[in-house]
Amino acid sequence: MTDPGASGSDHGHGVDPPCIGCGDADGQPIWRDEFPVTSEGEERVARRDFTRYLLAASGVFAAGTIGAAAWASLQRSNTGGPQRIVELAEVPEGTDHLFRYPTSADPAILVHLAGGELRAFSQRCTHLGCVVFWQPDRDRLYCPCHEGVFDPGSGSAVAGPPDRPLTRIDVEVRDGVVWANGVEGA
Ligand code: FES
Repeated sequence: MTDPGASGSDHGHGVDPPCIGCGDADGQPIWRDEFPVTSEGEERVARRDFTRYLLAASGVFAAGTIGAAAWASLQRSNTGGPQRIVELAEVPEGTDHLFRYPTSADPAILVHLAGGELRAFSQRCTHLGCVVFWQPDRDRLYCPCHEGVFDPGSGSAVAGPPDRPLTRIDVEVRDGVVWANGVEGA
């Protein structure tokens, strides 16, 4: 059995704590003496692991980028194709008709203006996204959330906090039926 006091330098002041990582006489770390197993390729293995890590990280980054691009392209392409809205006879002048376009999650409004013109817009207010309504007695599209007002002919914001026009939907009448042909400017 070895004397624990013999392993440290004792100068009459007790045992010095071991110095982790201090080199021995050859300049090698102490753990090298205690675990003298070495591998010739250990440095190469560490480099290979690092390269693997880099490749994995760039793979994840590339997958994320491709996913984001696909999502953006899906959004761009989701501007609506031809869609039957309603029989024109069901929307007399001065009235409106609510529908969904370009997807079932997008509320939209068709307005048959006095004089015969048809206009269609996204119902989402450009301020904070509340739903706008047609007010025929005041000839305007109105957002009740913060009293935003839009021109029903152009969709322009004319009063209240909104400063951008409503998103317009291109419509036409074919054989007595109103069709949406796409979201304008999308
Ligand atoms: S959300 Fe329409 S005015 Fe604020």
